[in-house]
Amino acid sequence: MATNLAPELDRFLSENNDRIHDELFEFLRIPSVSARSEHRQDTMRAAEWLAARMRDIGLTTEIVPTEGHPIVIGEWRKAGTEAPTVLIYGHYDVQPAEPLELWESPPFEPTVRRGRIYARGAVDDKGQLYLHVKALEAHLRTRGTLPINVIVLAEGEEEVGSPNLASFIEDHAKRLACDAVVISDSSMFAPGLPSILSSLRGLAYVQIDVQGPAVDLHSGSYGGAVINPATALARIIATFHDDQYRVAIPGFYDKVRDWPDDARSRIRALPFEETKFAEEVGAPALGGEAGRTTLERIWTRPTCEINGLLSGYTGEGAKTVLPAAAMAKVSCRLVPDQDPDEIATLVRAHVERVAPAGVSVTVRALHGGRPWRADLKGPLYDAARRALATAFEHEPVIVGEGGSIPVVGDFERILGAPVLLVGFGLPGENAHAPNEWMSDENFVKGTRAIASLWDELRG
Ligand code: BES
Ligand code: ZN
Repeated sequence: MATNLAPELDRFLSENNDRIHDELFEFLRIPSVSARSEHRQDTMRAAEWLAARMRDIGLTTEIVPTEGHPIVIGEWRKAGTEAPTVLIYGHYDVQPAEPLELWESPPFEPTVRRGRIYARGAVDDKGQLYLHVKALEAHLRTRGTLPINVIVLAEGEEEVGSPNLASFIEDHAKRLACDAVVISDSSMFAPGLPSILSSLRGLAYVQIDVQGPAVDLHSGSYGGAVINPATALARIIATFHDDQYRVAIPGFYDKVRDWPDDARSRIRALPFEETKFAEEVGAPALGGEAGRTTLERIWTRPTCEINGLLSGYTGEGAKTVLPAAAMAKVSCRLVPDQDPDEIATLVRAHVERVAPAGVSVTVRALHGGRPWRADLKGPLYDAARRALATAFEHEPVIVGEGGSIPVVGDFERILGAPVLLVGFGLPGENAHAPNEWMSDENFVKGTRAIASLWDELRG
């Protein structure tokens, strides 16, 4: 099935390999941390840098301001109306680098060690976004043309929940009209195993606040006579699961569609070792919903997870206090056809029902995103299979994902185009953590895979 990458693309990418890396490193040196106001200028600088590199290769560019960080658009539409139009999405912002003392080399000084490019944003998502730009360059420089029309849409707010992206897509749906959306912001299942993503979980994120007495009280003078908000919160969240680790919130599973049998057997066929996975996470044992394998639990089943708890005295030593308040951050990961707003409503109703008397409880929805599942059929997916097999000399596997990219559902809904998620990260890449890295081999092969994808798609 694997054909070869066109020789001129192959030669161009080999001959320019050093320069392409130098450019990527320049990109990685810009600390475009979207969450931090002190990096506002840096984030803008990353947007300008990216736009300039797209202009260098012949794209027309625009930096669109938003209420937050700008959206960068690059366009090339000279392939004609009979050629497909592809929208490439990625993000140029990165997560904060802290804690800095845990980095072996500085987060914004890219360093290559043992075939890995270490830097904040190396894999999430600057490396994966930039390889798309370089794949376009290979076509444009060697042939003076592209087999497809292209819109590159790079945002600077993915790591803070993309607050301005859906409305931008709605408002510019005509300009962004396309036949396919392609995203590289995910990982391969294992080294050497190119992977096409078939699903993402959705998200419903809520905050629970429990208020007791007006102020902290002496736990001796008042304890036993006033309901403790921390105990009340513990009792509430203890009702979220039954003893089989199923979510016990009424109505939670009502809209869950069972995973198709062929998809479940596909998951079982993947080379996955529970013991190795357990070692990687370093927990005493794995656990979750009864009757499901680890990959099924992560990819195909919804969850309700406590992400944070806050109450009372947590400093050094002991302090006898009955806290005035307690707080929990809770996120539910969702699968088709669960709806983030409906799930947040169910959680709120459940919490209000089980909340003990003597405290007041509020539940606030923070943000959400829809789950997504690909149908994996059609020319886009066929082209991707061929392109990945070419570049990696291995047939791609179909994988799921437990994380969320909320905009994927928005693209499909608003633009009506199929979305292809093909990522080049690897397990253990430390995205969002100290010592983030991207495999250099995957950067190089990923560029080639994407370069050949455009030829395959045109046919
Ligand atoms: N790149 C990730 C999403 C992702 C994670 C894709 C793992 C594939 C594998 C993205 O940057 C992310 O972290 N998303 C958030 C979404 C949330 C903030 C709305 C997530 O999944 O928690
Ligand atoms: Zn990302």
